[in-house]
Amino acid sequence: MLKVRKVFVDELEPGMRVAREIENQFGAILVNDGMILDENLIEKLKRLGISTVEIFNESDKDLDENRYKFKEQYQESIGNVKEIIHDARNDYINFSNLKRIADNSLKMDTNRDIITMLSIVRGADEYTYSHSVNVGILAMIFGRWAGLDYKGIKQLLYAGMLHDIGKAKIPDEILNKKGSLTEEEYNIMKMHSLYGYEITKSCKLISEKVRRAVLLHHERNDGSGYPFGFRKDKIPFMARVLAIVDTYDAMTSDRVYRGHRPPFDVFRLFEEDLQSYDILLTRMFMTNMAQYYIGEVVELTDGQKGEIVFINPSYISKPIVKINGEYLNLVNEDLAIKEVYLKSPIDELY
Ligand SMILES: [Fe+2]
Repeated sequence: MLKVRKVFVDELEPGMRVAREIENQFGAILVNDGMILDENLIEKLKRLGISTVEIFNESDKDLDENRYKFKEQYQESIGNVKEIIHDARNDYINFSNLKRIADNSLKMDTNRDIITMLSIVRGADEYTYSHSVNVGILAMIFGRWAGLDYKGIKQLLYAGMLHDIGKAKIPDEILNKKGSLTEEEYNIMKMHSLYGYEITKSCKLISEKVRRAVLLHHERNDGSGYPFGFRKDKIPFMARVLAIVDTYDAMTSDRVYRGHRPPFDVFRLFEEDLQSYDILLTRMFMTNMAQYYIGEVVELTDGQKGEIVFINPSYISKPIVKINGEYLNLVNEDLAIKEVYLKSPIDELY
């Protein structure tokens, strides 16, 4: 367990890791715990009149080691998922591989580094693998935010990692097709939920709850989803969570044929689409996720650059942005966030 010490803002140094979240004058979280301080951030804390910050007592070496370990664990998880999906073509699931990824992920702190990691550019051909790892981690984080017990969190993690396992049975030319699918191809693609349910039957250690979440992750509240067109009451909790985190990761990632969307654009789509996803769960996800972006520099659709200072709980896609000392409430403007400029040392590792 790392020790924590209180440091005066004047004595802060780049590279120190924040042990307890820092709030700004609006009571909103300015810096999340786990975030690594850099010169800009320290300057900002001084400007905002913050007096002391609790930081982890660790050396630069520890920090670098933590980040490299994180990166290694993530890449190892992608390697394991690759093997799991490959095995799934023969209706076999290697549970020790699956457990290895789960154990790696469960050790991760839910901090800023994870969120940054998940938004880092990934190779297009690796999409199915990195997407599976990301959805697993996001589902796990969701479970923590929702206050689930360890077993519930672990089940969500397994369900997230396995949600697209049925794609192992979809022909590569459909799976990797650039451009839109024909109706016939889309119908074949949609079979992956059912295939996933079947494949996971081969492993007795995977619970029926997890298998049903895999089967139903494309169902939507209004009955517009597949494979059964179930409505909200018939869609189990874990499948409703997967629907949200799967959509979020797919939309924010860099897929060659689509390009990525900034997180606030995805929040806007969730806010406009009230019929497809569980409203309460979507709000919980967005509220928690958006907190990580407070203090980040963003570009608006009119080209202005500023810093997110407050997340509006009833309109998450439209935060208050500080531009040249002025506060701009995006709720009152015909403007949106076009780009978020994440500044995290972890980017340098890629
Ligand atoms: Fe899927």
